[in-house]
Amino acid sequence: MSNVEATRSLTRDGAIKLHGREAFAAMHKAGRLAAAALDMLVPYAVPGTTTERIDELILEFALDNGAIPATLNYRGYRHSTCTSINHVVCHGMPNAKPLREGDIVNIDVTLIVDGWHGDTSRMYGVGEISRRAERLLAVTYEALQRGIAAVQPGHTTGHIGAAIQRYAEAERCSVVEDFCGHGLGQVFHDRPNILHYGREGDGPVLKPGMIFTIEPMINLGKKDVKVLADGWTAVTRDRELSAQFEHTVGVTETGCEIFTLSPAGFHHPPYNAG
Ligand code: MF3
Ligand code: CO
Ligand code: CO
Repeated sequence: MSNVEATRSLTRDGAIKLHGREAFAAMHKAGRLAAAALDMLVPYAVPGTTTERIDELILEFALDNGAIPATLNYRGYRHSTCTSINHVVCHGMPNAKPLREGDIVNIDVTLIVDGWHGDTSRMYGVGEISRRAERLLAVTYEALQRGIAAVQPGHTTGHIGAAIQRYAEAERCSVVEDFCGHGLGQVFHDRPNILHYGREGDGPVLKPGMIFTIEPMINLGKKDVKVLADGWTAVTRDRELSAQFEHTVGVTETGCEIFTLSPAGFHHPPYNAG
């Protein structure tokens, strides 16, 4: 997710880029590969696997498929994925610690294919997870679906945020405000910012050809976040569980296309259905 000072792509008038058919086709290719990378990880999301190993698997998968992980050396970030466990909200860094039974982990992958960025993340439950963790994953997945359903020409980015916030708060969860979705394409983090809260009518009007991510971070406790001394890892201040799902979408005449749907049908955990 981008913070607000994300890199901008250049357009003549500073407007949000409207992409054509060829860009949509390229984004489908990049998005599908990023989603396939997350599919590949399913058997590894088990107790004992280190997040370093997951990171290595993603790098190998990317290189084997002619792609490059966008996060590698991005603004000083040194990994191919973000791996955010339990109370980590986002930007968790892969390390040598093994996953443990009961963990919930978000794995976020952005692959660059032919210069285009496919950005997606999913939650994985490690072994048996608690009922409340399961509920958080279900609520977060549904929050993303509500956001996607709000995408249509004439709506604003605020419709997306409002739909997510209304649903998550009705489920007694909170929405993280410190990170947002973002435009992308040949640039990783572009305008518009997609806030996951707000009001219908806030923000720019959605138009066919816009491409952006929706990536709500939903907390079981309070919305407040802090970034650890490593400069990356964002955690909940109350140390309660946090979850996130992310898709890259393109606005069409009638709604949107999702570029990052799972080829294996691994849409939400548990990923045994196929
Ligand atoms: N993939 C993340 C996103 O959804 C961005 C991570 S940037 C990094 O936008 F530098 F932390 F890797
Ligand atoms: Co993103
Ligand atoms: Co991402």
